[in-house]
Amino acid sequence: MKSFYITTAIDYVNGSPHLGHAYEKVLTDVIARFRRQMGDKVHFLTGVDEHGQKVQASAKKRGIPPQQFCDEVSAEFRALLPKLNISNDDFIRTTDERHKKVVRQVLQQLFEKGEIYKAEYRGFYSTRQEQFLQEKDRNPDGTWPELFGEVTEIVEANYFFKLKQYQEWLVEFLTKNENFIFPAFRQKQVVEFLKEPLNDLCISRPRERLEWGIPLPFDDGYVTYVWFDALLNYYSAVADLPGVWPATYHVIGKDILVPPHAVYWPIMLHAANIPLPQGIIAHGWWLQRGAKMSKSTGNALNPLDLVTEFGADAFRYFLIREMNVGQDSDFTRDQFLVRYNSELANNLGNLVNRTLNMTTRFAAGIVPAAEAIEDAEREVQTQWAKTRDEVIVLNEGFQFHAALERTMQFVTATNAYIERRAPWKLGKSTEANDQALLRTSLATMAEALRLAVALMQHVIPSTTTKINAVLGYTPGADWRAELDWSAKLSGAKVAEALVLFPRPAPPEKALAKV
Ligand code: MSP
Repeated sequence: MKSFYITTAIDYVNGSPHLGHAYEKVLTDVIARFRRQMGDKVHFLTGVDEHGQKVQASAKKRGIPPQQFCDEVSAEFRALLPKLNISNDDFIRTTDERHKKVVRQVLQQLFEKGEIYKAEYRGFYSTRQEQFLQEKDRNPDGTWPELFGEVTEIVEANYFFKLKQYQEWLVEFLTKNENFIFPAFRQKQVVEFLKEPLNDLCISRPRERLEWGIPLPFDDGYVTYVWFDALLNYYSAVADLPGVWPATYHVIGKDILVPPHAVYWPIMLHAANIPLPQGIIAHGWWLQRGAKMSKSTGNALNPLDLVTEFGADAFRYFLIREMNVGQDSDFTRDQFLVRYNSELANNLGNLVNRTLNMTTRFAAGIVPAAEAIEDAEREVQTQWAKTRDEVIVLNEGFQFHAALERTMQFVTATNAYIERRAPWKLGKSTEANDQALLRTSLATMAEALRLAVALMQHVIPSTTTKINAVLGYTPGADWRAELDWSAKLSGAKVAEALVLFPRPAPPEKALAKV
């Protein structure tokens, strides 16, 4: 069985991880977990991008060798993963021997095929972006945009990859594979971009200018340019694993779609006779007051602060619930607290509390069998079937925010059902019919909770494990078979209580922290 192979971008290690990096890991993890539930054999890769000018400069600033610098920062990125409940199968560093070996092999192969040539290059160079600039990159007034930092003119001999000759091929490929990039409007942008002629890609840097890189196998005086090195991580990580390549999806941010992932990468693979990935998912940015969160602008949030305060699952829930994949989203602590309180603590938390509390009070903690199915129960069951079917389709189409919204609507409906049945009143009656309805209502709320939990497992995995545990339930291995309305919980012994989402600090105090 071919693996469902999914990757994140590999993060630059010239600063600490921030919320944008964390989001990409969480989003990819949610897809990976969902696909595992759907029965796919998933291989999930993430990692770090360690070579290049910026890392060399950051290490120099600290007065330590680049390798030591990378070891330290990479450890920080890696340590974040278990804290976010990320289920990656592998973690690649571009300084790994396995990676360097493959990069050199691919470069050598392309060189021998005549895809790489040496030429003199004169141009304006941005150290910050590690790229040569073109006239069209200038501002209308002739200056260089802020994002390029300091720009200097240099002349040097370099190696070039023959990108240009594959332009038509790429356009044709994108025409034939119209779902290559998600969301669809991004693919249109790539096609637009390809209306302008491509230039060949400079893939080397002279060693005297950049020491910290992979030496070209055919010329020791040069190292590989960062993108050529970085992109190949997706392939080098699994080159020795049968049945994994090609990748199913690369999950990346919109800033690195065009040209690196949508132009360089498919052309590099095609030129090297390596099969192409199935697709690319380009997510949007987390903003703060409208500006991209990033370490260079200093408006980045440390994801660990939120995880420490609210737990990994609440953090994951918020990111996935709030962001429509592909769009941008503004991060505010207020909005985080609104979702946390209303959806997790009140809605889901209430259903858990009521189920445990009432089963303990009225049935000695044992989930009864349903007996008196009436309209109220039938409505919950009908709504369940609809929710389940919609949510699976939404998840398959990466509409995770809408899937969570629908699931929460089902939780709301279940809470409304409980209000309607009012088991606390039925519990006071000695009528046989009321007692049957009481048992039915307890069975119904427990089953609805079990099912809602199954639909959120990929987003809030440790919470759902805890809820299943207090319901005295161990889910079966076949996730889809778990989604039918059933009597699976009948006879289960539930716990008395579970505090899932404790009340956070009062907003005034919390807001002062931002
Ligand atoms: N090293 C390159 C990627 C090489 S992939 C072969 C790089 N690194 S990065 O650290 O700058 O960014 C890593 C990922 O984080 C990118 O996909 C980027 O889009 C994402 N994010 C960085 N800031 C972000 C936000 N504010 N919001 C969401 N994601 C953003 O680019």
